[in-house]
Amino acid sequence: MRRAARAVASPRVVCVEDLRPLARRRVPRAVFDYLDGGAEGEVTLRDNRRAFEEVTFRPRHAVVVPACDLRTRVLGHDLALPFLLAPVGYSRMMHPGGEVAAAHAAGAAGTAYILSTISGHRLEDVKAGSAGPVFFQLYLMGGRGAAEAVIERARVAGYGALVVTIDTPVSGLRERDHRNGMKALISGSVLEKLPFLPNILAHPGWLLGFLLDGGLRPLPNVVIPGHGPMPLLDVNTALASSAVTWADFRWIREGWRGPIVAKGILTGDDARRAVDEGVAAISVSNHGGRQLDGDPASLRALPEVVKAVNGQIEVWMDGGVRRGTDIVKALALGAHAVLCGRAYAYGLAAAGEAGAVRAIEILREDLDRTLKLLGCPSIAALDRSYVNVPRSWEPA
Ligand SMILES: Cc1cc2nc3c(=O)[nH]c(=O)nc-3n(C[C@H](O)[C@H](O)[C@H](O)COP(=O)(O)O)c2cc1C
Repeated sequence: MRRAARAVASPRVVCVEDLRPLARRRVPRAVFDYLDGGAEGEVTLRDNRRAFEEVTFRPRHAVVVPACDLRTRVLGHDLALPFLLAPVGYSRMMHPGGEVAAAHAAGAAGTAYILSTISGHRLEDVKAGSAGPVFFQLYLMGGRGAAEAVIERARVAGYGALVVTIDTPVSGLRERDHRNGMKALISGSVLEKLPFLPNILAHPGWLLGFLLDGGLRPLPNVVIPGHGPMPLLDVNTALASSAVTWADFRWIREGWRGPIVAKGILTGDDARRAVDEGVAAISVSNHGGRQLDGDPASLRALPEVVKAVNGQIEVWMDGGVRRGTDIVKALALGAHAVLCGRAYAYGLAAAGEAGAVRAIEILREDLDRTLKLLGCPSIAALDRSYVNVPRSWEPA
């Protein structure tokens, strides 16, 4: 076994947070901070975690729960686990296997993977690499022509749903990326890159893999008609000129007959609007604290959204999920499923597919143990009676 794979398999890696320092060691600072960081003062990033600590359990003791049923059904797909892997843009920068490796790990564990528009691998290769359902996350970067083309490719490749992210009218200010010279590293002159090179050279294992993989490539799933794949450098400008609006959902539906998900809902009003637009699911999300700093923690926003939706569609949540106890709390608060972002991406950055597999396995074991300790036989049986929620979280 190679060193990185050995490190994630070590018995000293007992929780997802243990994968984080392994990721930090393997990849350059610019890559680690792109993955780990949030927007501006990172208040929302931290609050995503803090909110989980404010919810406590109401266990049922002295009951026997011999085997816990972790299975669920998401958008008509039977999943072995109640969490999916969230879209994480340019995972290929963390490890050459990138999106293909993550999708393979998800499928092998019996769950679904959501591929970001900002993927380093072709969507066809990602779909072919997974035994499980794969959904496509859509940004309208590159305009309608590019979006229509990618929607058609996703349909032909067999993607199971389109996840439209609505919280990115511009990219949030990720201060760590600026300080680490991310822009200079992507496109600058050698002189501009110079201050950041020592840290890159201090990670020879990552650098070798990155160079052998061909370095930074243009985005194979954002193909501008008449121009070809979009260079990575153009992403922020392209995002700023292609904000998605509710009106866009109508033409998106003309090209995509399957289920549509709106990702980035934080209020009951937006949730009702999404229901009116005919989406099949929403994800309560602040983009992992990477967009508007000062957004509420996703978990705090969940009760209001669940109440507003009133069971009409599936409500997912993402943001700050690092443990099985977090997943159980979100489900008890009414989430139908949960998306994990950094939890598996730390593993991916630490050791490629072996790291993503390890993260999923840790979460699966966590879930099983948590349900047993809670005295709850299955994911399906979880409800509000298993948790104490701060009174201030209750919707009016
Ligand atoms: C490095 C990174 C890149 C991301 N890229 C995207 C993306 O391309 N599209 C998207 O909808 N969300 C993206 N997200 C947000 C995730 O899908 C998800 O909402 C978030 O990671 C959840 O928070 P968590 O990381 O604390 O689990 C990204 C998150 C990270 C950490």
